[in-house]
Amino acid sequence: MEEELLRLQQEACRDLAALHDLNDLEPFRVQYLGRKSEFTGLMRQLGQAAEADRPRLGKLANEIKIDLEKLFAAKKTELEEAARLGLTGAPALDLSLPGRTAPFGKLHPVTQVMEEICAIFEGMGFGVAEGPDVETDFYNFEALNIPKHHPARDMHDTFYVNESLLLRTHTSPMQARIMEKQRPPLRMIAPGKVYRCDSDITHTPMFHQVEGFLVDRKVSFGDLRGILGVFIAKMFDDKTAMRARPSFFPFTEPSAEIDIACVICRGQGCRVCKQTGWLEFLGAGMIDPEVFKQVGYDPEEYSGFAFGLGVERIAMLKYGINDIRLYYENDLRFLAQF
Ligand code: DAH
Repeated sequence: MEEELLRLQQEACRDLAALHDLNDLEPFRVQYLGRKSEFTGLMRQLGQAAEADRPRLGKLANEIKIDLEKLFAAKKTELEEAARLGLTGAPALDLSLPGRTAPFGKLHPVTQVMEEICAIFEGMGFGVAEGPDVETDFYNFEALNIPKHHPARDMHDTFYVNESLLLRTHTSPMQARIMEKQRPPLRMIAPGKVYRCDSDITHTPMFHQVEGFLVDRKVSFGDLRGILGVFIAKMFDDKTAMRARPSFFPFTEPSAEIDIACVICRGQGCRVCKQTGWLEFLGAGMIDPEVFKQVGYDPEEYSGFAFGLGVERIAMLKYGINDIRLYYENDLRFLAQF
């Protein structure tokens, strides 16, 4: 009898473990714990066992029964929970399987380059400030020595909101906004979006610039070259040569276009640099005394330099991209490479 009890216990445990469906619970209960089950039959036969064995066997049978009922209740809870989570019919959850990773998003390549540019200048002690995309005609032009009807306005292809409001065409207005509020010494960069009514393989109507300027006593063009040299060395490498060509901007005097040796052919001449060995990199110059007067600085006391660079352009050079529009078509096959 004892053997039979133990065998039944084993069978019941094995069958219970194999149950995966709520509908199989009731047949199991009937088979092993019901009034007509083999187990109940064995319990009834207890009375016929030798009197000396009866207490021991009774105790064993009871323990087995209580045990089975507990296991059965636990199984029931497990299957009900599985049903609630919609896992019925599925094989038991395998907790040892590795998880499925969700694809990670990334920063846009232009954002990455912009952050890199800012980090390099922050490393040289420049503060960062951002200004409004919708700008006044005053800050975008007048304060930068570009009065109404000045021919330099033609270069900007401006989107006007109304007579006096526009989408800023460059980040230079931040020079005036910051200088107006603070006194030298000043070292600032201003990253942000700018807008021009222009679109082809090297222009998009919205693009990004980083403006930079430094004002103090006795600032020279040599300081500008020094700072830009460090920037170029960190952005590309310290073997990348730079040169300054005379240029014109109403808010700087003298003004320069800064070129760097072509990062594709290393100055040998190729399609990207149009065989010149040089790439236009940014506009810069010594801040014009007229700009200082607008913000109430004495041009006899202070001098400073300023520069403005196009972020997309630098990103194109850095990654060897020849069509700026790729950055804004949102093709994930393109964007995921960065
Ligand atoms: N604002 C000019 C542009 O968008 C770029 C520029 C040139 C900025 C010379 C400067 C500068 O600060 O000194 O074309």
